[in-house]
Amino acid sequence: MDDSRWLIAASQVLEPARNWEEGGPFAVGISDGTWGRFRTGKKPIKERAFKAYCQVLGLPWKEIIARPPNPNSIQNSALNTKDPADWGDAPDISYFYGRTAELSALEQWIVTERIRLVALLGVGGIGKTALAVKLAQRVEEEFDYLIWRSLRPTLSLPNLIAELLQCLPQQDSPDRQTDPIAQLMKCLHSARCLLVLDAAESVLQEGSLAGCYREGYEGYGELLRRIGLERHQSCLILIGQEPPREISLLEQETECVRSHFLKGLPDEAARGILRAKGLSEEPSWDDLSERYGYNPFYLKIVSATVREMFAGNAG
Ligand SMILES: Nc1ncnc2c1ncn2[C@@H]1O[C@H](COP(=O)(O)OP(=O)(O)OP(=O)(O)O)[C@@H](O)[C@H]1O
Ligand SMILES: [Mg+2]
Repeated sequence: MDDSRWLIAASQVLEPARNWEEGGPFAVGISDGTWGRFRTGKKPIKERAFKAYCQVLGLPWKEIIARPPNPNSIQNSALNTKDPADWGDAPDISYFYGRTAELSALEQWIVTERIRLVALLGVGGIGKTALAVKLAQRVEEEFDYLIWRSLRPTLSLPNLIAELLQCLPQQDSPDRQTDPIAQLMKCLHSARCLLVLDAAESVLQEGSLAGCYREGYEGYGELLRRIGLERHQSCLILIGQEPPREISLLEQETECVRSHFLKGLPDEAARGILRAKGLSEEPSWDDLSERYGYNPFYLKIVSATVREMFAGNAG
């Protein structure tokens, strides 16, 4: 049996009602990445996948987990290990209000519906990056690798792909002759990777409503098309103030590309920000939130000003 057959067998154990095909995508938790981690024992995998792999191999999982770890296997395999999560310059979100329904819907898109390309869009300061951090934290366990990169200040496509390829395991050594996007697609196919690209408007022409790229950055269009249209087991979350022109075309072409526009925060969440910023509670809060479009960035700025100038009294 080659590896793919084991992955099909493990998927059948977990979800017997579905038809599993060679090459995936496989059941949740079953992938080349978790299979590799299971075989080498170098990093933990979720119990569900562990038991399924043991079952298809006829191994007694209870006895295996009772055994002390083999120090040699950990040491040897650690030499080939890539860090499964590289958060790049993603911000640490210490407090976050509202957006629970949005988070659940987006989680469902990624985990259950296996959407390959999710565009998170909205005006500056509305909370796209913060929401994406929370979303990526929620779904991280479903992926073998997570890589977060910001395209601000403009990051060229070759540099981005070179960084991504460094973070991901390669089956063959990177070949200078091969198209870099094709090399990346291979990785996205063989492992379940979550890529998050923030500030995507940086590679678009300023103020371009048509989502056209800056000169020299047109290659991003090809990357989005391939991630949206090709069969693989990974997901790209693209964050931006404006959608690149491919997004709406791809949404019409495939079920596996979706976009979500963020609106202002609901009343209660906006009040949460004002409260956290030390404003004293009062009826004028709702007017203040409305005036600033329920935009968390502006609410934070204005509440800091109110606190300094009026000792926390917004009236
Ligand atoms: N739901 C929330 N609860 C509390 N704070 C929030 C929430 N959403 C965003 N914020 C805060 O508001 C500020 C702006 O949010 P964020 O940086 O995510 O906006 P953005 O849409 O990514 O903006 P830009 O397009 O400029 O990158 C940040 O300080 C963030 O932590
Ligand atoms: Mg942002």
